[in-house]
Amino acid sequence: MAKIFFKRNEEVFDIDMPEGTKVVHAAYKLRLPEVPANCRGKCQCGTCHVHVDPKWIDKIEPMEVDTMELFLLKRQKSYDPELSRLSCQIRIKEEHDGLTLSLVDDNIPRNS
Ligand code: FES
Repeated sequence: MAKIFFKRNEEVFDIDMPEGTKVVHAAYKLRLPEVPANCRGKCQCGTCHVHVDPKWIDKIEPMEVDTMELFLLKRQKSYDPELSRLSCQIRIKEEHDGLTLSLVDDNIPRNS
């Protein structure tokens, strides 16, 4: 089991997740609107974009080059080459206890 944290400005949401599940599953359970995950984890939409806390970026599986994940991330308004990941591509391990991610609002509809 690993406790996963999501930050939205000063708010923090946490949830215990079993090893082998994905970070996007934690976001579903918490019903976080910033992570609609429209393709339900199939790496086709990019709407599960999060920023990984800099302290954790070296502790998760690195993103491979020339992948669909990178292609989708580069289309996101808040893309940060150092911190951006698709939460459906991060599989939770025991050593991820305390993993902290920041929510980005790229997928929140705006009132115009
Ligand atoms: S849920 Fe669609 S790319 Fe992650």
